[in-house]
Amino acid sequence: MTFDRLPKIAPSILSADFADFGRECEAIEAEGADWVHVDVMDGHFVPNITFGPPLVRAIRRHIRTVMDVHLMIAPVDPYIGAFADAGADVITAHAEAGPHLDRTLQAIRAAGCKAGVALNPATPAEAIAHVMDRIDLVCVMTVNPGFGGQSFIPAMVPKVARLREMIGDRPIHIEIDGGVTPETAPLVVAAGADVLVAGSAVFKGGSVGRPGPYGANIRAIREAATAACRSHAA
Ligand code: DX5
Ligand code: ZN
Repeated sequence: MTFDRLPKIAPSILSADFADFGRECEAIEAEGADWVHVDVMDGHFVPNITFGPPLVRAIRRHIRTVMDVHLMIAPVDPYIGAFADAGADVITAHAEAGPHLDRTLQAIRAAGCKAGVALNPATPAEAIAHVMDRIDLVCVMTVNPGFGGQSFIPAMVPKVARLREMIGDRPIHIEIDGGVTPETAPLVVAAGADVLVAGSAVFKGGSVGRPGPYGANIRAIREAATAACRSHAA
């Protein structure tokens, strides 16, 4: 994985057909996905359950790009090895998932993955102040985690800007997760985000048999994001 701050679109397979994950991953990649975002939920840290390491391992064969695994589970440490072995490139744990975030982040890197930390909406940017040298990505939750299709929380935009200031020149991605659309993407990209997770906004209107809408949806988000990136830089 090389580092850059160009806007990247990471479709979340939470909005895919759960009976056809392999072909869904291939379809979104063929239609222009930069990363594939994989949401793991445990029914404890969040009020929903998705899947675990065996499913992640099974879909790895269908993904050529970065597999970005978002763990909404607590505890998280006992499962890091299993998700790394399953083929995750990035493993993101929640700052709220346990009392030992620094240890968790060390364990993710020790397992050979890029380390991400996700912040729930009520968690301040400063939660990462003392782990900056241990992270490759910070994921700003712009909805409360657990479900796709929720509305973007605009109060998160200043948090993105604060994180961007804190990060400075460090090679740390700012990822946005929740309610990303062509309308909300420019707000967060202008504030400094570079990885945009999108579930419902990518998968709406398409299917594995008719993936064209996936491509159109990805392009719409990318165009809105890239325009905001340019106007930010100007
Ligand atoms: C929410 C998940 C998200 C979700 C986003 O808990 O972490 O990745 O799939 O879905 P949308 O883009 O529909 O808000
Ligand atoms: Zn997610």
